[in-house]
Amino acid sequence: MTAFLEMVNVSKVFSAGIIRRQHTVAVDDVTMTIDEQSPSILAVAGESGSGKTTLARLLLGVIPPSSGEVIYRGQSVDDLSREQRRTYLREIQPIFQDPFESYNPFYKVDHVLTVPAQKFQLAATKQETSRLIHEALDMVGLQPAETLGRFPHQLSGGQRQRVMVARAMLLRPRLIVADEPVSMVDASLRATILESIRRMKQELGISVVYITHDLTTAYQIADNILVMYKGSVVEAGSVEQVIRDPRHPYTQLLVSSIPQPDPSLPWGAEAEIAGDPESMEVAATGCKFVDRCPVAFEPCAGQRPLLFHEHPSRAAACFQYDKSPALEGQNLDVVFEPQLKSQSSADPQKSATIRNPPTSEGGL
Ligand SMILES: Nc1ncnc2c1ncn2[C@@H]1O[C@H](COP(=O)(O)OP(=O)(O)OP(=O)(O)O)[C@@H](O)[C@H]1O
Ligand code: SF4
Ligand SMILES: [Mg+2]
Repeated sequence: MTAFLEMVNVSKVFSAGIIRRQHTVAVDDVTMTIDEQSPSILAVAGESGSGKTTLARLLLGVIPPSSGEVIYRGQSVDDLSREQRRTYLREIQPIFQDPFESYNPFYKVDHVLTVPAQKFQLAATKQETSRLIHEALDMVGLQPAETLGRFPHQLSGGQRQRVMVARAMLLRPRLIVADEPVSMVDASLRATILESIRRMKQELGISVVYITHDLTTAYQIADNILVMYKGSVVEAGSVEQVIRDPRHPYTQLLVSSIPQPDPSLPWGAEAEIAGDPESMEVAATGCKFVDRCPVAFEPCAGQRPLLFHEHPSRAAACFQYDKSPALEGQNLDVVFEPQLKSQSSADPQKSATIRNPPTSEGGL
């Protein structure tokens, strides 16, 4: 493994209030590596407020960690020289939820493609820049002639989001951090956008961190998954293991709430998750899920569970598995399957082969 980007014991705490200072642990002690040599798609799932966007912003270098380190090509992001930071900012590209926010309504859409091409000096001539832009638009299924020269409002939401995917691709990054990239486009376009993200990995060797509420699309395109709850990773591993056979009670509830295609099967929505997902208040000790957990038992309120390595490609932070060894250094790398092994799991057809395939949106 050659580390491209590492998070080492990274936490992010937000503080608010002057008199009564409140602290929100948005990301709590995450350690993992994005590998340079075997690109993969990592899904990050969890309810609203679980810390997914904060994790993305830490990876993108938009915010610094409160503790721990983000390391880019062996060097702390804090210590990068100007030139190194410039490369870092090119090599890790974001795709955001709302593509409209990324556009200036007074500029034609060409602007979001030509500006980064010039800024990062992707080509020596205008013709070469234009060729690269056409290539990137083709790759996301957009006709350059029908896209360039238009204003943002003249494109549909799906087209605008595809231009943003093309923009990210244009810069030939090593990693794309896509934060809910399809949640604001309609279902018919979702598959096209996800397919372009999948092609980035397969054809261009780009790794992707895919943040989503939707376990169905996570299952379809990701190799590995990390499930977050109140800032902590509660379960992680290969997407096959975690979604087909979830071990943490929280993941089990999420998976059981995916609508089933067979009307005779019970809807998991019945297994509603009690408690307030928005509340970030957690007891100083004990499992963060204890107040909502249907199977909580004696040790749960006393200590925080570590991530236990209860399957070669899965770990769960739950005392039910404390007979298994804890992940060394709580490092997730050991449960993430390398790309070669998981290539087939990126197959968009694979939902057809699972016993109870998630069909429509499995929103959280
Ligand atoms: N800049 C900030 N200042 C204070 N608190 C913040 C800030 N950014 C995020 N938080 C808090 O950190 C927690 C995690 O937020 P985050 O946006 O990462 O969640 P999320 O999983 O992306 O949620 P969603 O699914 O709604 O996008 C939340 O409680 C949020 O209120
Ligand atoms: S540690 Fe206890 S409370 Fe937490 S998820 Fe496991 S059983 Fe539930
Ligand atoms: Mg978010």
